[in-house]
Amino acid sequence: MQNPFLYDRPLPPDQLVDRTAELEQLLQLARAGQSTRIATPRRFGKTTLLGALAETAWSAHEMIPAYVDLSGVTTVDDVALRIDHAYEQGLDRGKLRAVWRGVRRRGTANARFGVPGIAQVGGGMGAPSAEVALARLHDALDLPRLVHARTGQRCLVILDEFQDLLTAEEGLDGVLRSHIQHHSAVASYVFAGSEPSLMAALFGDRRRPLFEQARSVALGPLPLADLADWIDERLDAAGREGLREHVDTAVSLVGGHPQRAMLLAHFLFEQDDDDPDALDGALEGARREARDGLAQTWRALSVAQRRVLGAVARGHDRLLTVAALQATGHAKSTQSAVRRQLLDDAHLRELPGGAVQLVDPLLGLWTTSPQ
Ligand SMILES: Nc1ncnc2c1ncn2[C@@H]1O[C@H](COP(=O)(O)OP(=O)(O)OP(=O)(O)O)[C@@H](O)[C@H]1O
Ligand SMILES: [Mg+2]
Repeated sequence: MQNPFLYDRPLPPDQLVDRTAELEQLLQLARAGQSTRIATPRRFGKTTLLGALAETAWSAHEMIPAYVDLSGVTTVDDVALRIDHAYEQGLDRGKLRAVWRGVRRRGTANARFGVPGIAQVGGGMGAPSAEVALARLHDALDLPRLVHARTGQRCLVILDEFQDLLTAEEGLDGVLRSHIQHHSAVASYVFAGSEPSLMAALFGDRRRPLFEQARSVALGPLPLADLADWIDERLDAAGREGLREHVDTAVSLVGGHPQRAMLLAHFLFEQDDDDPDALDGALEGARREARDGLAQTWRALSVAQRRVLGAVARGHDRLLTVAALQATGHAKSTQSAVRRQLLDDAHLRELPGGAVQLVDPLLGLWTTSPQ
């Protein structure tokens, strides 16, 4: 039987552990024409959630989804192409295919000949091709208007790994804004990103064009009980009931981190049903699998940050207490600044009341024995 726990790719929309409240909130805001933003640490289930959002927006609300993956985008032309591709996919349904053919005809013609009078963004590329690329991007960003004119339906434009947009060209958030500000009747936007501090700068800095342009929606850890039920169900379906006794401990170890939960469940599935140490074996497998990523994360941290994460891993969840300061050897002001930075970079999560928790439970194990 194939291992049912996937940890290395977004899950199909019908597979996810409960995100009902988040989905409902995103849908409601989208239907009201409100743009939203989601910023979470890496591997926290954004793309999985966005896939389900696109699906439900279409099946239950007749919004036309355009899911744009901006990860690693490098040029303006690449951005335009990815947006085009997203609409092509979103419109790849029955009668809507004809709509796509219609709008594409128009868009390609404009881009090919260039649109006069459009200011250039930056000057990284040769002048003519930069102009054509920008014209093409303007065309792509105008698609919801054209689609709405032909269908009367609202588009739901989802921009995943949105922070990468600015690596293609500084100032593209301004180009985007020049379109979306006129789209409230025809499209709603969801901006998702895995670098919370960059996302906060894009939407929270009044000097940036998208300042306060999208409402923040939180995406926290998965609810532990739902997660445990979900793993149980899959173990049962595979005839591996023997492993169920480890599920509650496994879930409490990963604390609802979606990818870490699936990783651990995956390696639990690899153990023998009657092995009393199955969970240790699973944890070992998960740590081995995550080792390179953890090492990379660790190397990128300062010594002070490592000390603080180490203290949290050893149970100091209130970092400004005398005991926690003794554990790191930091002055209170240093500790406070490092704590803030780790929260901003999403290595730590703040709990109500000011205590903190490691976002990645495996990083906690790494701090105590990095092999
Ligand atoms: N709702 C969910 N239910 C169950 N597992 C989930 C859920 N969301 C995410 N996961 C698990 O986490 C993994 C990562 O999910 P996903 O790719 O959606 O996250 P992401 O935040 O988009 O990651 P990245 O930062 O790499 O883009 C998935 O492979 C899956 O194992
Ligand atoms: Mg993703």
